[in-house]
Amino acid sequence: MHKYALASLTLLTGALGTASARDLAAIKASGVLYVGTEPTYAPFTYTQGKKVVGFEAELAEAIARKLGVKVEWRPSGFDALLIGLNQDRFDLVVSSHGITPERQKAVDFANPHYCSGGVVLARSNGPLTVAALRGKAVGVQLGTTYAQRAQKLPGLGSVKTYPTNADALQMLLNGRVNAFVTDRFVALEARKKFPKAGLKLGEMLFQEKIGIAVKKGNTPLRNAVNAALRDVMADGSYKKISAKYFGEDIRCK
Ligand code: ARG
Repeated sequence: MHKYALASLTLLTGALGTASARDLAAIKASGVLYVGTEPTYAPFTYTQGKKVVGFEAELAEAIARKLGVKVEWRPSGFDALLIGLNQDRFDLVVSSHGITPERQKAVDFANPHYCSGGVVLARSNGPLTVAALRGKAVGVQLGTTYAQRAQKLPGLGSVKTYPTNADALQMLLNGRVNAFVTDRFVALEARKKFPKAGLKLGEMLFQEKIGIAVKKGNTPLRNAVNAALRDVMADGSYKKISAKYFGEDIRCK
């Protein structure tokens, strides 16, 4: 997340300190879990018609089932998700957030539900290494750990920030940027989806643990999510969903 967005998030938390998030009992009584996500991030959360689908969509629904409730998806801009969580617009945010010390100041995270990392993605003959990126234009999604990492790459021509993951990918496909820094599995999915673009995965820039966010201090909800996640990881359902989307088990090892 942006330094400034985080600063304002901290201010908001202070200002709205008395507004309380829905607790576990209220969620269970309503039968509905409101989940925020930025759904242009295939294969994690994306849309099919009006439905939010993908690995994290199915995982969140499996977790909700363990809690005895149904997920109601609340699509939102990625950079507004954690702020929205602290404004009680969602109960959970399931949108592939890397667990970073900065974000942990603003929200609480459940135990990681997968491990991955940021890679360089380019078209054939495009730059694939940090060295090759010197002087080049790199696209990223606003508010992501990839945006943060790209800003620190030495000698870049420019870092171009796009509101959604889909926009950033589109800019790579149409040649507005030379490379796109995104998640490794998102890059693999894009390569599969656009075979004619000759997309290539390059250097892995960093690794991260991905977690579900709850409002800071909503510990009973976080504990319930952790227990449900432990169950789906133990009873074979995580393995099955992961195999469906990735052909492998992507839990942190
Ligand atoms: N893993 C990255 C981060 O933590 C990007 C997540 C983007 N998610 C999305 N649904 N667009 O910032």
